[in-house]
Amino acid sequence: MATFTLPQNSKIKPGRTFDAANGAARTKIFRIYRWDPEAGENPRLDEYKIDLAACGPMVLDALIYIKNFVDQTLTFRRSCREGICGSCAMNIDGTNTLACTKATCDVKGDVKITPLPHMPVVKDLVPDLTHVYAQYQLIEPWLKADSPPPTRERLQGVDDSDLLNGEDGRGPAGCILCFCCSTACPSYWWNADRFLGPAVLLQAYRWIADSRDESTGERLDALEDPFRLYRCHTIMNCTNTCPKGLNPAKAIAEIKKLMVARR
Ligand code: SF4
Ligand code: SF4
Ligand code: FES
Repeated sequence: MATFTLPQNSKIKPGRTFDAANGAARTKIFRIYRWDPEAGENPRLDEYKIDLAACGPMVLDALIYIKNFVDQTLTFRRSCREGICGSCAMNIDGTNTLACTKATCDVKGDVKITPLPHMPVVKDLVPDLTHVYAQYQLIEPWLKADSPPPTRERLQGVDDSDLLNGEDGRGPAGCILCFCCSTACPSYWWNADRFLGPAVLLQAYRWIADSRDESTGERLDALEDPFRLYRCHTIMNCTNTCPKGLNPAKAIAEIKKLMVARR
């Protein structure tokens, strides 16, 4: 039987520990992945004991507290703090999610935080998104229409816009490109070089389903490929992990149905 082990220089070593401030009554330990490409050392898990009374309720609040008051070398992305920009996506307590919408009290025991899985790491909790954005560019995520534009704007009926926004607000237009789904997808782990993954395919469907777009056939042609689309095996990790409650697996199934219907 094949055995899989990490190369020696990828093994996570125990890291440094930081105690809470004197007098802290309500504490929690955050175990955070650290890796600095310039240090030439193995990744490690640093432990920070944090006074929960001193920071806000979300995991991102704790990270910001650590950066501001405990260890300025900790590196992570964040912007909106409202679950809208997608930049604070990371693996918290074993699940890919957004640090700004994940409540610390929802994690039992220590809070373990690592970068999104199966992505190259730039530093600490920051994944390298170069490849996934190149894939996003491939699906041409903009309106393509050759008909002359109306004087004001291209209008859309309620039923057509429901296809994008979803009657419950969870349609493909709600995707914030956090890539929690793609990095939870086993097919994407093994075939990211050629399979587009759930996030990019959901975005592809967003434009295919747009009644104002006039390039549906061309968009389907670009996906008619054994790898780009058909490496999805309906495992559903993507839908289960999406922090916005979207359904990338359904979007992929809709693309496959359109492929069959046009044959
Ligand atoms: S449903 Fe498809 S895209 Fe989603 S996790 Fe499974 S294989 Fe990946
Ligand atoms: S579908 Fe959900 S998990 Fe995937 S990129 Fe969009 S918002 Fe993130
Ligand atoms: S900081 Fe924008 S989604 Fe979390």
